Amino acid sequence: MESNTKIPEHVSIIMDGNGRWAGKMGKERVFGHAEGVHSVRACAETAAEIGVKYLSLFAFSEENWERPQEEVETLMRLMMKSLSVELPTLLENRIRLRVLGNLSRLGDNLKKEIRKVEAASDLPDPRMTLIVFLSYSGKWDILQAAKQMASDFAGDPAGLAAATSDDFGKYLVTNGIPDPDVVIRTSGEMRISNYMLWQTAYSEFISVETLWPDFRKEAFLAALEEYSRRDRRYGKVK
Ligand code: IPE
Ligand code: IPE
Ligand code: MG
Repeated sequence: MESNTKIPEHVSIIMDGNGRWAGKMGKERVFGHAEGVHSVRACAETAAEIGVKYLSLFAFSEENWERPQEEVETLMRLMMKSLSVELPTLLENRIRLRVLGNLSRLGDNLKKEIRKVEAASDLPDPRMTLIVFLSYSGKWDILQAAKQMASDFAGDPAGLAAATSDDFGKYLVTNGIPDPDVVIRTSGEMRISNYMLWQTAYSEFISVETLWPDFRKEAFLAALEEYSRRDRRYGKVK
């Protein structure tokens, strides 16, 4: 890594291309998902090593529930297995895990396992927070926030009229987590696919051709070099 590389506080990744990776090997899509788990580990390790404070990963969207049942089940099984296998590594490396999304749609066992790993890794001074977006969509997040806020302010129209975008942000599932500095999407796609719509308002967007199962340390660091070269102006004149 170059010495002047800017380390973002929050790196987010839309992990895409597992199915295409498997297809290229002449295998079933689920084989790509299993291989992708190794990329999660590689990126989490690298991010923690270089001082990233928040690494968030889009693992499963609300729209992904529409995939064939067998694929959905495999993804949920992989999630369940990874949670229990990775807990010791998370603790060893002082990494806190958060799982965010419409978790009411998950099975009871998976919900229980998520709560267990979140509680066990809820360290007071973590080296890094790893956020997994599961059964998440940006529109769902904004809608659930709006509903909660409307309910909280039901008797207080003046308070509602005075509310700021920061006030609204507190109702999103990412409350307390800084907005992503950079969103990396693998597999060459250039869309946001209903990911963090509100929180990415000023994130740098990087699309890389690499398919997710091939996205390991070197590719991750190369994407951060690209981020370092970006000039963030936030609408102002420099
Ligand atoms: C990303 O890979 C994993 C999930 C969205 C769950 P895909 O499964 O979308 O792989 P492609 O895009 O079909 O190659
Ligand atoms: C986006 O990938 C969602 C995740 C990575 C979890 P998709 O493969 O589902 O997105 P589209 O369908 O190409 O937009
Ligand atoms: Mg895809």
